[in-house]
Amino acid sequence: MEFIFYSTTLTIILSTVVLLFFTIFFINNRQSLRRSLPPNLLGSMGWPIIGETLDFISCGYTDHPQTFMEKRRLLYGKVFKSHLFGSPTIVSTDAKVSRIILQSDANSFVPSYPKSLTELMGEASILRINGSFHRKIHGLIGSFFKSPYLKACVTSNMRKLLLRSMAAWNEDRPIYIQDETKHIAFQVLAKALIGLDPGEEMDLLMVQFQEFIAGLMSLPINLPGTQLHKSLQAKKKMIKLVLRIIRDKRIDGVACSQHSKDVTDVLLNDQSAKLTDELISDNMIDLMIPGEDSVPILMTLAVKYLSDCPKALHQLKEENLKLKRRKEELGDPLCWDDYLSLPFTQSVIKETLRMGNIIMGVIRKAMKDVEINGYLIPKGWCVLTHFRSVHLDDNYYESPLHFNPWRWQDKDMNSFNNIGFTPFGGGLRLCPGLDLARLEASIFLHHFVTEFRWVAEKDTIINFPTVRMKNRMPIWVKKEH
Ligand code: HEM
Repeated sequence: MEFIFYSTTLTIILSTVVLLFFTIFFINNRQSLRRSLPPNLLGSMGWPIIGETLDFISCGYTDHPQTFMEKRRLLYGKVFKSHLFGSPTIVSTDAKVSRIILQSDANSFVPSYPKSLTELMGEASILRINGSFHRKIHGLIGSFFKSPYLKACVTSNMRKLLLRSMAAWNEDRPIYIQDETKHIAFQVLAKALIGLDPGEEMDLLMVQFQEFIAGLMSLPINLPGTQLHKSLQAKKKMIKLVLRIIRDKRIDGVACSQHSKDVTDVLLNDQSAKLTDELISDNMIDLMIPGEDSVPILMTLAVKYLSDCPKALHQLKEENLKLKRRKEELGDPLCWDDYLSLPFTQSVIKETLRMGNIIMGVIRKAMKDVEINGYLIPKGWCVLTHFRSVHLDDNYYESPLHFNPWRWQDKDMNSFNNIGFTPFGGGLRLCPGLDLARLEASIFLHHFVTEFRWVAEKDTIINFPTVRMKNRMPIWVKKEH
């Protein structure tokens, strides 16, 4: 009896939540749905309200997430209309069209994120702001991440954390690469952003951040008990910690010092933007959103692809061993530019980015009617520039589903690079963390392949809602002598 009561109550609650969810979508999009459809675009708007979202998601969970796009490309061409995640959407799987969209400014297109995500981001988050203020913040952060100073700090910090973690690897139990790299990359990121060292505060930040990101793809309902509410509470705790760090920096006079040690210093030291402590702390947490998961997944996927391609692994190992021996002979420690100097290692990273599609694409919203290459994108519609479709297009890449780092040694590939290879996006919103990501992956691969042999357990890549390994990539390691 009690069970029946609970299950009925649960059903009513769940039905109400689902109804509310679709009502919010419906109200939000009623206006745009009424707009006339782009006349020259083929495609299907799918079911009322949900459009083609369920098909998109279910393909995302299969081994071949490309099916959704491939089917429609065959039927409608490289640019087509659809209805995804509550919005009428134009999907671009065309490298040239996507490039124009990415290069456009905020008068034409602005980023569009799920409602739960915008609720969690601050209003002045780098991910949400546009125009000159965005250019300013993006420029400050991007140039700091490119600076030799930061690269040297990241290198020594990453090496320390990596070697400490590897020293604890046991030959008698599997090592979960996805967990190991996540733990390391989070600490590297927190140090680069707010100057935090390992310890109690770092542990607190890690726990709260996991609670925070759990809300990124949740229902956009902020009521006690909902995931969104819990995530907002977690963000408050993190902001409190960052505000404390900022105040300490102000007391210590970092705000007027010449040399910025982390991104917080960069924003504090900037005299022209006059950023408040609240805005800086908010942004530090929001910067962790794109930075936290992507780098460990890059490293994990590289291990996966290398485990399946012994020839590439052999060449990578040889190249890195040669560097290691040369540096040992000279008695020099490895610097950040040594790690980035190896052409085959960089090709492995590039090929991992191409095949892995850690960010499968980005969504923009049209601020006015925009015409691109003869396609009309109506005001209010979303555009999904789908990187994965281009990265796996056999018109651009021979045998695209085949892990082939050698393809990047062909000079012709570089001329095509900017158009058909956009793992870090492009234009005004090009990922400011791209150098950091490449550096961390290079350091990881160097130490991993020169110090260990391994056998990987069977594992598969999941592509939705984010890219990750189903079993966290377990491997059995043996230390090289
Ligand atoms: C493999 C690693 C990474 C990949 C594949 C990646 C990919 C991307 C992509 C595709 C975008 C463009 C989003 C858009 O156009 O709307 C982006 C933006 C961004 N990324 Fe990364 N990213 C990576 C690592 C990082 C790291 C380590 C950071 C460090 C904090 C970072 C910070 C950002 C920020 C702040 C933006 C937003 C830029 C803006 O809107 O102006 N990313 N990233």
